[in-house]
Amino acid sequence: MSKAIGSRYIVELSPQAADFRKAVRDVLESDEVQELKEFRHHKCMTRFQHCLNVSYYSYLLCRKLGFNADEAARAGMIHDLYPDCPKCSRSHLVSHPETALKNARKAFDISKVEEDVILKHMWPIRRGRPKYPESYVVMITDKYIAFFEFCIYLKKSAKVRLKKYI
Ligand SMILES: [Fe+2]
Ligand SMILES: [Fe+2]
Repeated sequence: MSKAIGSRYIVELSPQAADFRKAVRDVLESDEVQELKEFRHHKCMTRFQHCLNVSYYSYLLCRKLGFNADEAARAGMIHDLYPDCPKCSRSHLVSHPETALKNARKAFDISKVEEDVILKHMWPIRRGRPKYPESYVVMITDKYIAFFEFCIYLKKSAKVRLKKYI
């Protein structure tokens, strides 16, 4: 069962998540996205969980702002679609959106907006300014979520260190 961090709703079951579920169903249920459960991301969670977090909160934000929430949700779910665990180097930060886009094109039918969202989500670290409002929303949400996930990691590792001294 899948649940975005901080959300009460189970994507596969909750009536409150029905619209989101409808928007992402094909990508969420695919082998390519399910495989992301095998890989760690930002040290404290799986890449699947990170993508779900970005997808869900981008969806809510786009819906609130009157943008295309379905496209933002779909693209958010596959914006980090690469099945390996490379070191978080500068070159990886710059190159992984292209890898994710290549993999997404291979696995799904994606729109121009979804392509832009995936390719531009690392701006301004990677060159190429986002073209659509949905791309800006996912780009900002990704950074916010990454920061939040890193704080969770810091909290967990601080607890482990503290236990050693007690
Ligand atoms: Fe990314
Ligand atoms: Fe990401």
